[in-house]
Amino acid sequence: MAERQRRSFAQYHGAIATRGEPALAATLAAAWRAAQGDGRELTHGFHPYPARLHPLLARHLVAALSRPGETVLDPFCGSGTVLVEARAAGRRALGSDVNALALLLARQKCAASSPAQRARLRAAGERLARRAYDERIGRDEAPEIDAIPPDLAGWFEPHVLHELDTLGRGLDHERDPACRAALLLCLSSLLTKVSRRRAETDAAPTDKRIAPGFTARAFAERAAELSDALAALDAAARRAPAAGLALADARALPWRSGVATLALGSPPYLGTYDYDAIVELRARLLSIPLAAAQRHEFGRRSQANAAPAAAARDYVAALRAIGGELARVVAPGGLVVLVVGDSEAGGRSFAAPELLDEAFAGLPLAFAAAAAQARPGPRAPRAGRAEHLLAWRRHNPRPSCRT
Ligand SMILES: C[S@@+](CC[C@H](N)C(=O)[O-])C[C@H]1O[C@@H](n2cnc3c(N)ncnc32)[C@H](O)[C@@H]1O
Repeated sequence: MAERQRRSFAQYHGAIATRGEPALAATLAAAWRAAQGDGRELTHGFHPYPARLHPLLARHLVAALSRPGETVLDPFCGSGTVLVEARAAGRRALGSDVNALALLLARQKCAASSPAQRARLRAAGERLARRAYDERIGRDEAPEIDAIPPDLAGWFEPHVLHELDTLGRGLDHERDPACRAALLLCLSSLLTKVSRRRAETDAAPTDKRIAPGFTARAFAERAAELSDALAALDAAARRAPAAGLALADARALPWRSGVATLALGSPPYLGTYDYDAIVELRARLLSIPLAAAQRHEFGRRSQANAAPAAAARDYVAALRAIGGELARVVAPGGLVVLVVGDSEAGGRSFAAPELLDEAFAGLPLAFAAAAAQARPGPRAPRAGRAEHLLAWRRHNPRPSCRT
């Protein structure tokens, strides 16, 4: 049996400080505490994505701040954590992001599926893995490859490349589009693990060794795990409609005015990641275009390192445009809740609540409550650095003077 890949979500244990409306602030603080548990069930642990939200934090907020049948919107949905939790709780889930790989992932993780579709996925995973295992025997020279771009081949040992290539060619022949898309993401989910890359967010090379046959076996296991996870999601989300997903900049949301009761999501933290660069290897291997992310991603680390003052100005401007859109798509009385962290880039520190205060000033979003959790530790050495749950309430429109 291949070693089961364990993916843990960040475990948060710092002190929590609240302000604003007491009941809402207590709900936000309770969400931080909920995030101390494990959250790998449903489809959450299926595939890596940078800066995923903790599923139990999302679960707590969806349950506390919306009702069954209402619409929950995540305008930076990434791999779809909020959307999965919204569907599982019987809400209508709407999500968008500028990253096409994120969208594929979110679509798969939220997908409704029949028992026959899940059985097909499991069987196809086993069949393709058996073929890749059989074909790999005696292949430890650099292979002729069809499915992997030649300039990316150096990331993999020759026998791993053979297995990936055989799996990639095999899934191209899968006739059912939903099954093919699921198998493609199963393959994608293994790429960092079987590559010479250190981690998802760290492209430094390592000399880790992958046993012959491991990649094929792990692929079959991943297909079986996904099939089980989709069954669990289906059982939980029986009454929820399918999620609505769009490749869209949060500054121009494709959703109608007043559609959502709750907007819940986590924007890029200023100067923390270049998401498109992190997923680039995977996106090229899978021929997923990243043009929209390259054009519209905001808060980039590369920009903040090079020109921190300009990056902060651009970040506030982007958040202001996004705040305007959220005020449009969230119904009067509804909530906008963002998870955002303080950050450092280009030699400067950025306090997330100050950036958001500036961005949302004058918009029809009234600050309602906040809960900040301290982030001590090697990656957050500065005293006072924290991650924040910030909530705003969409103003009710003023009564007309004619009524
Ligand atoms: C913190 S991650 C969200 C992770 C997500 N909550 C999850 O659990 O997977 C931030 C996301 O914002 C997206 N993003 C960056 N710029 C954007 C923009 N202009 N409009 C919409 N999404 C954007 C990134 O592609 C990234 O997926």
